[in-house]
Amino acid sequence: MEEQRKIFLVTSFKGGVGKSTVAVNLAVAIAICGRRVLVADCDTTNRTVDLLLGYEDAGMFDLRDVSGGRVAPSEAILRDPRAENLFYCSLPHTGMQPSAEKIAAALTWCADTVNAEYLIIDTSGGFDFPRALYEYMAYAAIIVSTHTMASLRAAERTGAELARAGVREIRLIINCFDIKTAIYDEGRAILDIIDNTHVPLLGVVLYDEALRTAQEKGMPAACVEESTSPEAFYNIARRIFGENVPLFEGMEIRHRRRLVSPADDEDAEQT
Ligand SMILES: Nc1ncnc2c1ncn2[C@@H]1O[C@H](COP(=O)(O)OP(=O)(O)OP(=O)(O)O)[C@@H](O)[C@H]1O
Ligand SMILES: [Mg+2]
Repeated sequence: MEEQRKIFLVTSFKGGVGKSTVAVNLAVAIAICGRRVLVADCDTTNRTVDLLLGYEDAGMFDLRDVSGGRVAPSEAILRDPRAENLFYCSLPHTGMQPSAEKIAAALTWCADTVNAEYLIIDTSGGFDFPRALYEYMAYAAIIVSTHTMASLRAAERTGAELARAGVREIRLIINCFDIKTAIYDEGRAILDIIDNTHVPLLGVVLYDEALRTAQEKGMPAACVEESTSPEAFYNIARRIFGENVPLFEGMEIRHRRRLVSPADDEDAEQT
């Protein structure tokens, strides 16, 4: 299984851009599509995935217990009660953390235990952990950014650092995309600006008030009828499976013409 498993580390040099939101909802979308996925919370500063999935009272062992041989992986893994293909594990929130080598070994052991085709790793951002982990576990990186200039600049820097560390597959997700603030004047279309990050775009997730509210209640977007986000995450999941999915397929978005350069208008209208 190990050779076929796809491992995605979700990262960014900028905080609060939606890394955990993307990790959770992408994992849910992959699971709903019938693939087994393990989402691992490796953010030791602010553990969040358990809150976003409503597991916070689950009281369980973690990857440090697995790596120390205190428990079997099955005791540190929680199977989501709503989606049978979705599994969760985490690093401890406090105390000494295992080394990157031990974390990689424990993650692999857990993913093997549940036969996960996909492993999605949420991080606290920054570069130390992604670089250290890459020495022991080859992963593809997903950089999350909003469409603000500061966030996109951080995304570009993150991409450059990851590439320098040898990460071969690096993709960008634009989160909290808001058409009202994303249209730039002076002929600079948002997709051109995203291009300047030199990180290939994997998908766009719209700003979604219903998602934000749902997360407070421990529910992913797919559980909330009013949420506009599930389609965005399905699109991203399908691209990960190798399908060719137009950027905004199935997503409610207006003024699409203005997202791209005038030369691309015709194509964009058809998507
Ligand atoms: N597409 C979205 N629409 C609306 N709100 C969103 C969206 N994505 C994330 N949020 C909200 O933005 C906030 C930050 O999201 P999240 O915790 O996922 O970011 P993060 O990058 O993981 O943060 P940190 O750097 O602290 O780990 C949360 O309140 C979340 O609900
Ligand atoms: Mg987070």
